[in-house]
Amino acid sequence: MNITVIGTGYVGLVTGACFAEMGSNVTCVDVDAAKIEGLKQGILPIYEPGLEPIVVNNYKEGRLRFTTSLPEAMADSNLYFIAVGTPPGEDGSADLQYVLAVAREIGQHLKAYSIIVDKSTVPVGTAEKVQAAIQRELDARGVHIPFDVVSNPEFLKEGAAVEDFMRPDRIIVGAEAERAREVMRNLYAPFNRNRERTLFMGVREAEMTKYAANAMLATKISFMNEIANLCDLMGVDVESVREGIGSDARIGYSFIYPGCGYGGSCFPKDVKALIRTAAEHGFDTQVLNAVEARNNQQKTVLFDKITRHFGADLSGLHFGVWGLAFKPGTDDMREASSVVLLEALIAAGATVKAYDPVAREAARATLPADWFASGRLVLTEHQYDALKDVDAMVLVTEWKPFRHPDFEAMKRLMKQPVIFDGRNQYDPKQLQALGFRYAGIGRGE
Ligand code: NAD
Ligand code: UGA
Repeated sequence: MNITVIGTGYVGLVTGACFAEMGSNVTCVDVDAAKIEGLKQGILPIYEPGLEPIVVNNYKEGRLRFTTSLPEAMADSNLYFIAVGTPPGEDGSADLQYVLAVAREIGQHLKAYSIIVDKSTVPVGTAEKVQAAIQRELDARGVHIPFDVVSNPEFLKEGAAVEDFMRPDRIIVGAEAERAREVMRNLYAPFNRNRERTLFMGVREAEMTKYAANAMLATKISFMNEIANLCDLMGVDVESVREGIGSDARIGYSFIYPGCGYGGSCFPKDVKALIRTAAEHGFDTQVLNAVEARNNQQKTVLFDKITRHFGADLSGLHFGVWGLAFKPGTDDMREASSVVLLEALIAAGATVKAYDPVAREAARATLPADWFASGRLVLTEHQYDALKDVDAMVLVTEWKPFRHPDFEAMKRLMKQPVIFDGRNQYDPKQLQALGFRYAGIGRGE
């Protein structure tokens, strides 16, 4: 089976590499020529644990190819995965321009029966738009070529993308035609070895499932953050509460970690897009509005705690920030809580030294250049360098090396022994016993 994956970002590259790893021939297409050139040389555009060896080996074996030319890839393929970005438009709706541009290009070059799979996260009704865009091109060419459009949303998490793709909780396939279902069943068979994970459903149901899943996870987090903020005011440690409720199998332990807000390229954008889709149907999403509002506010909770301790004017104060990426295991800075914190600290007159094990380059590329030029933000090479002579340390991303640090060494380095823990990684009692002033999220002020 010759597969073409269009879009070589997190989803496209992982999808292409994992299908190739299972023996399929895959061509990955991207309009970004530098990305494609780098991939041919084994240089990955993203940090994703476990991905590099799969890409490099399958490229060497000839099962994985890279090109900037979709027509070239289409010469010997009849299964297309659209995995391009669907960023938020100005009104919050998913911007489908990249998806539809790919659909049009497919329509311009389609030669024989093919299946076009929407892998990108797209609103309900997009498969119909993709279908129409392809059909318009075929009509313009005056040819009759049958094709099916399938929805196969992706559920991988950054930082665990390969593992999630190889061992998914479920594979959602929205397909109306039996022959398309058969091709998808066959393609995913190697991922269903120990139990059947594929759920077949209608195309619109599959599209909605993706948004509902992300919105549910975002809701769990915002709900827990709300409880944490309340705990703060009441002298209750939310970590005990988290364990207490997580042990109820109906609630579960996952995605109820309170913190300084959810980020990334998906939860913020997908919650927004679902709210927007609902508005287009004249429906007011009261729960989702609150989920989004809580998260926007949650990203300021660390700064609020900092100003309650130091006062509103932070001029002359120095902060050491641990973690810049939106979560551990990735160099992705999109919608990261760290950015909101840095903006607020710098605007209040503070200077910041920040350390992230892998997101340094991404931070340099995405954060305002004048922060670096003015010396308001310095990125350090080592974790403890970020703490030298600082008035407080702020933990934003819970990378593993931050979880069990040398507190005595930290105390010696810091000007003041003050820790703001945005991910509740430390034991408040232990830190207080060591002489630190500690503030977590939902553990008392
Ligand atoms: P990304 O921004 O990392 O990559 C998208 C790629 O598509 C880019 O390399 C871009 O150059 C390329 N592209 C754009 N237009 C193109 C065209 N016409 N032809 C060929 N290539 C083109 O995006 P991503 O994070 O991989 O996300 C892709 C989709 O998958 C989004 O809808 C996203 O919501 C969804 N998704 C993402 C994740 C994730 O963890 N990042 C997980 C599940 C679903
Ligand atoms: C999320 C979903 O988990 C994936 O299933 C989905 O495929 C993906 O979005 C997507 O659609 O793109 P991802 O954004 O990569 O994956 O990472 P998560 O592990 O879900 O974390 C998202 C954010 O939530 C992070 O900022 C993280 O710190 C935060 N989070 C997560 C919490 O604050 N508390 C938690 O308990 C869990």
